[in-house]
Parts: sequence; structure tokens; C-alpha cells
Amino acid sequence: MTHEKLLFALHTSKDTYISGEELADRFSVSRTSVWNHIDYLRKQGYTIEAHPNLGYRLINVPDRLLPDEIQYELNTKVIGRKIYSFEEINSTNDTAWEKAIKGEPEGAVIFAEFQTKGRGRLKRQWFSPGRKGLLFSVILKPHLAPNYVPMITAMSAVSVARAITKYTGLSSWIKWPNDIFVNGKKAAGILTEINTELDVIKFVVLGIGVNANMDKFSDDIKKTATSLRLEGGMDYSRVELSKEILRSLEHYYNLLLEKKWDEIIVEWKNLSYVLGKRIKVVQGGKKIEGQAMGIDEQGALVVRHDDGVIDYVITGDVICC
Ligand code: BTN
Repeated sequence: MTHEKLLFALHTSKDTYISGEELADRFSVSRTSVWNHIDYLRKQGYTIEAHPNLGYRLINVPDRLLPDEIQYELNTKVIGRKIYSFEEINSTNDTAWEKAIKGEPEGAVIFAEFQTKGRGRLKRQWFSPGRKGLLFSVILKPHLAPNYVPMITAMSAVSVARAITKYTGLSSWIKWPNDIFVNGKKAAGILTEINTELDVIKFVVLGIGVNANMDKFSDDIKKTATSLRLEGGMDYSRVELSKEILRSLEHYYNLLLEKKWDEIIVEWKNLSYVLGKRIKVVQGGKKIEGQAMGIDEQGALVVRHDDGVIDYVITGDVICC
């Protein structure tokens, strides 16, 4: 018997007790083995009541990003079929990259409670106090040319924004290319990294950071960053939010694989923080100014200059609104 099976049995019996004898029979193990697994789960943070006559009952699950909890009733086919969870690592993107190089299949997800070298786009740092946010990376292997990478980021942004809104009820918006905004401040970010060979993508590592339950930010970012907790006034289950994001990602990733660009673009437009607005896109020393018109099928931002000329922008920071 693995602890996963025991946990599943405890989860499915909901509020009723299951006796040690029944569990031992069901899994053809000794009652001592059942007890050892219960002990292991308790050490992981589960609260399991043991009644002398009635048996065991699951009282509370920890809000820790444990594979068993995230996989329970996840109901996805590919995204999250394998989940790794670390207490502390450099960066989930680095670990995902190493695993992908070694042949980890598509859909594997690497979670961490704390990163020592969490990074954002353009080599910026990504801070997250332990056990407050969501830090994870997903390995994808789409059969697409590298110029579709901005569309992969756009698809991911749609997935994250939709999942946040579905789970928390907070309206969330996409600030091209990779920021998720709630009430005008950044609540999540996406870092897309790719490994290519000739003209095809070998794999993509999609790093997602969500400011879930932080209650404060350092002075340098507090004007621009927020958390779901600060906006919603409550703590959210990081496990449930993770599941919602993985389900959403599977849905929109399937649209991407089916090349249903239009469906993704429509969703992106509905959620866009910049659409129709006058913006500046800063690319190093260069600035592109105009009106944000949408994204094209490769995820490039379509900008119309005052003279009517259209630019397709694939990278940069948007200043707007
Ligand atoms: C950004 O807004 O610039 C992107 C932030 C991405 C942060 C996530 S946290 C999990 C994953 N691991 C990292 O080192 N970065 C991404």
C-alpha cells in the first residue's frame, strides 16, 4: 500500500471513519503498515483522527503543494499527470529544464514552496515568501515553430487569468505579454523559456508565479504588486488554485495544439488590460508608440501607429493607461 492509496481512501470516505482492519484488508497489508502510513501522512501535515473503535477519519489537509493533494480530483489528462514538489530549490524553471533535458514527459509540473533564485522576465528577480504564493513550472512539448512562443505565453496568460477569476471571483486581466493584473496591480507572472532544435521547439518550460496569500510587499514593489489575499480579503487554498490553473491550462493548451488561434485570441481580447489603449512598448533603448489592437496568431502584439502603420511586437514592456 502506498500512502497515495490510503489518502485516496480517507478522502473518499469524507466524514466517516474507516477502520484500520478494513484498510488493511482492502490493501492486503498489516494494520501496523496502515498505522505507519497514517504516521507518515500526519508528518506531512494531515490531521487524521484515530478513534479506538471506529478507525481513522481525515479532518484536515495541509495547504501544502503536495503531489497527492494537487492530483486528487484534478481530472486532467496531460497537465499534471506527474507532479514534483520541493520545499526549496533554486528555481522551478531550472529544475523543470533539467528534467526536460533528461526526457521528462510533457505535462510534468514542478512546484516549490520557496525559490532561492526565482526569476522573472528580462532576468528580473521573482520573490515569494515561503508557503504564501504559487511557484511552479510546467513542461510542454508542442509541435510548433519557435516563432509561436509569444502565443504560448498568451495562451498561458489566458489560462491563469481565467483560473484566478473562476476560483477567487476576482476579475483578472492580462497585461501583454506575461503579467496578470488584479485591480490595476500585478498578481501573477509567467516566464516562458524554450529549448529549440533547428526550427522546432523541443520543449517549453512555462514558469508561473502567483501572489496568492501574501499580506505585504517590499517598498520597491508595493505600488505595482498585489496578492489575491490583499484584493479578496481572505486566504485562498493554494492547492485548489493550483488545480484550477492546471485544468485551465490543459483546456487552452488543447486549443493551441488544435491551432484554434481565433478562440485563444478572442479570450485574450476579453481579458486584455491594454486592448484599445494608447501604449508605449519599451524594448531596451527603443520605444514603440501607438494603439494596442490585439494579438496575431503567433501572439505578437499588434500596435497601430498614428500614421496608420501596423507593427507586430514580439517583446518588450508595455507602459500604458
Ligand atoms: C515575470 O513576471 O517576469 C515572470 C515571473 C515568473 C515567476 C515564476 S515563479 C515559478 C517559476 N520559477 C522561476 O524562477 N520563475 C517562474
